[in-house]
Amino acid sequence: MSTVVLDNVTKVYPGGYLAVDRMNLRADDGELLVLLGPSGCGKSTLLRMIAGLEEITGGDLWLGGKIANHLAPRDRDVAMVFQNGALYPHRTVRGNLSFPLEIAKADPAVVKERVIELSKALHIDETLDRRPGTLSGGQRQRVAMGRAIVRQPSLFLMDEPLSNLDAGMRTELRMEISSLVRALGVTTIYVTHDQVEALTLADRIAIMNRGVLQDIGTPAQVYNDPATAFTAAFLSSQQLNLLAATVRTPQNQFILLDFGTHQITMPWTDPRAYAVSQHTGSQIIVGIRPDALAPMPEKMDGPSFMGRVRTLEYHGHEWLAYVEAGIPAVAVPEPPDPRTRNGFAHGVNGNGVGKARSMMRRLLGPPAEFAEGESAPGAMATALGSGSHRRADLIVRLGSRPVWKAGEHARVAVDVSRLMLFTQSGARIDPPRR
Ligand SMILES: Nc1ncnc2c1ncn2[C@@H]1O[C@H](COP(=O)(O)OP(=O)(O)OP(=O)(O)O)[C@@H](O)[C@H]1O
Ligand SMILES: [Mg+2]
Repeated sequence: MSTVVLDNVTKVYPGGYLAVDRMNLRADDGELLVLLGPSGCGKSTLLRMIAGLEEITGGDLWLGGKIANHLAPRDRDVAMVFQNGALYPHRTVRGNLSFPLEIAKADPAVVKERVIELSKALHIDETLDRRPGTLSGGQRQRVAMGRAIVRQPSLFLMDEPLSNLDAGMRTELRMEISSLVRALGVTTIYVTHDQVEALTLADRIAIMNRGVLQDIGTPAQVYNDPATAFTAAFLSSQQLNLLAATVRTPQNQFILLDFGTHQITMPWTDPRAYAVSQHTGSQIIVGIRPDALAPMPEKMDGPSFMGRVRTLEYHGHEWLAYVEAGIPAVAVPEPPDPRTRNGFAHGVNGNGVGKARSMMRRLLGPPAEFAEGESAPGAMATALGSGSHRRADLIVRLGSRPVWKAGEHARVAVDVSRLMLFTQSGARIDPPRR
């Protein structure tokens, strides 16, 4: 059994910097859990606390059903791979791979066999007699990974092991990591800030921001039904459309999402209808992925936006259109910064922008509702501390053919079932489902 449970785990660095705030998380036996989040959000700190390389300030860490807060790293049966997997430069690849087993005084015949087997699985069997200095970056990371798993630890921790490799090598090694750790059945916690890596590798993804857990679920859950606007935006490979709308329920017949220049109707049959209707008269944030928008076929009716195509962008596998529709856009609401809580001073590492934003938010207070026709959505974005108070373009995925031309008027079909609805502070409008 090698489950990992974090119960309110917190890290405050000397000097008072709060890097991880009351994290509750569980990795099941044999699970590949990916920790995803922007740079500086506390991913490495969390991983290092699990490995025993960093002291836990508050809360409990459970490994295999036992409290492990004060266990020495070597007693945790954990192996870790870093971004720059350091190897022993004077030992060959074979020597690097066999070292952990030699220390554990394993039978030399077993060591020999295990090293050959593992080197084949990692496609480095032809480099066994070479020194690390003569290897490519990808080969070195394979050796580092091999050295970590050769002992068959009960927990495998990887901190951005692929981030120094080129795109092709990353994809190749990503697939190999996935099949290797699944074949071994070792519980793995894998840290990355790359959303594609997270979506393709994970059994479940835990998304962090500013030391706080934002969302956790399978890749499909967190992608399709994100708990916060931050998660929605962070998981979008293309820019997410985040629009301001006021909820109206005319004569209680249906729900109207009023974007000022445009209205979209949401039927009462929509599973979120009741939750949304609770916001009648208030402003909410509507997130729309570019692939939930499409050119509206002629003579067809249905929920749509009208606009002028400003520009088209070719991405190889698809075209994107930027459509001016006069709809107010908002910036991703930043979750409250736990570091501004009473009792937590900013360390020297404090993020100046975040600090300024949260201060602004506190000064401005919650964004006020706006009257019809006013440009208040802009004010909302300002209040949220954003730089974008413009009526931003709608980004529409066109597929493999650029069906529109720049400058022409276009009707954009909206897939209402795929609208993501958030409160002004960025929380999903929906009863929690997990
Ligand atoms: N020893 C330390 N003392 C004080 N602050 C630290 C220390 N180590 C890390 N921090 C700060 O804690 C925060 C979280 O750091 P961490 O390395 O965990 O982030 P990360 O999510 O791994 O980022 P990245 O993706 O850039 O690796 C950062 O603001 C960092 O500057
Ligand atoms: Mg890190």
